[in-house]
Order: sequence, then C-alpha cells, then structure tokens
Amino acid sequence: MNAATRNDALMNALDAHSLLRGRQSIRRYHAAQPSTASITRIFESVAYAPSAHNRQPWRYMVLFGSAAKEQLALAMGRRLAADRSRDGDASDPIQQDVERSSQRITQAPVVIIVALSMVEMDCYPDQFRTQAERTMAVQSTAMATQNLLLAAHAEGHGTCWMCAPLFCPDEVKTALSLPADWEPQGLITLGCPAQPGRNKPRKTITDFVRFAEPHDAPG
Ligand SMILES: Cc1cc2nc3c(=O)[nH]c(=O)nc-3n(C[C@H](O)[C@H](O)[C@H](O)COP(=O)(O)O)c2cc1C
Repeated sequence: MNAATRNDALMNALDAHSLLRGRQSIRRYHAAQPSTASITRIFESVAYAPSAHNRQPWRYMVLFGSAAKEQLALAMGRRLAADRSRDGDASDPIQQDVERSSQRITQAPVVIIVALSMVEMDCYPDQFRTQAERTMAVQSTAMATQNLLLAAHAEGHGTCWMCAPLFCPDEVKTALSLPADWEPQGLITLGCPAQPGRNKPRKTITDFVRFAEPHDAPG
C-alpha cells in the first residue's frame, strides 16, 4: 500500500469511526418523508451484513402510509393494554403508555418492522442445537439492523429501535399480513430528526474488554 492509499484508508477509517460514534436514537421526527431512493440505498447496505452460514435470515416490512401504521399501533396497543391489565396495573398509566407507544409509531415518517425467518437456517433433531441456530438468526438479524441504523445515519436520517413487536409478534403479523415464516423482532422508526438525540453514558473499554496479554503492537 503506498502512502497516498494508506492516507485514504486512514481517512475512511476516521470517517467510519465518526459515523459509528455519531449515531444516536431519535424519538421525534419532522413530517417530511425520506425519499424511496434513500431507503433503497439503506437496504442495499443492509444486504452487506455478515450472517451465519451467509443465510441472511433478516426480513423487513417498510411502512410509509398512515393506515398501516395506525392499524399496527392499534393492534400493538390492545395487546400492551391486555398484558398490563393482567399484571394488575392501573388503567390511567396503561392508557398513557398505549398512547405514547401509538404516537411514536403513527408519527414516524417511516416504520420498519424487523423480522427473521428460520426457513433457510439449519435444522437439528435436538433442542440445544435448534436453540443455537435460532440465536444465530437473531444475531445475524441484529447485525443487519445495525447496518440499517448506520446507513440511515449516513443518509442524514434519525432512527430508533423499539422492542415492542417482540412482545406481540402475533398481533404484528396479523395487522400487517406478514408471511407465515416471518418472526417479528422489533421495529425501527426513521425520519428527519425533530430533536437531537441524548448523550447516553458509555462504559469505558476497561469495563467490558479484557486483553489476554499486554497489547502494544505498533499501528
Ligand atoms: C434491542 C434494542 C431494543 C430497544 N428498545 C427500545 C424501545 O423499546 N424504546 C426506545 O425508546 N428505545 C429502545 N432502544 C434504544 C436504546 O434505548 C438506545 O439505543 C440506548 O439507550 C442508547 O442510546 P443511543 O441509541 O442514543 O446511543 C432499543 C435498543 C436496542 C438495541
């Protein structure tokens, strides 16, 4: 690698680090719709995520229109209310929670359901390996979705992952008529940020990394 190429590679690496460190979850958006071209570019980068056996088990349903978002929010809200009533929670906070969740879905310019499919993953006769294979599909889908969040950030959009579909997968499938093998894992709201993200505290690397031996290699 000559010096100019090395400099380019270093600049690209610095850009990549600043992209990784600049993304923040965004929870309020302007009404403007991102272009279809921009959303397409994002999914083209999603396709480059690593995956177990390269099976690419991730699936995404993109909602632009208000009817689908409202139908989804209604179905998810009903399930949330039913679960919380069964927990014995009071009706006012339940209603507030349902309303807050519904607004986040219906007011996001784009909502993307994150799902996985086990159809192309390996099958095993025992529970332990079956579970490991499922975990690999979940891991692969999370990696692809991190690509989605970062590609959206590179396009100038804000995003936020919401876990709620994991708690009401059947309602999400029915509300959106998802294919039978799609297993909802979460949803992403996406749009032009109406307020900045919050600076969340970060662990220092000594809190979560251990080096097996002294590490002072050059470069
Ligand atoms: C698996 C997962 C589930 C999440 N679920 C929610 C959620 O339901 N609602 C929400 O507002 N944020 C949710 N988040 C966003 C996190 O709260 C956020 O990433 C974290 O606080 C760090 O902030 P940052 O994304 O701005 O760096 C989720 C993130 C992940 C990775």
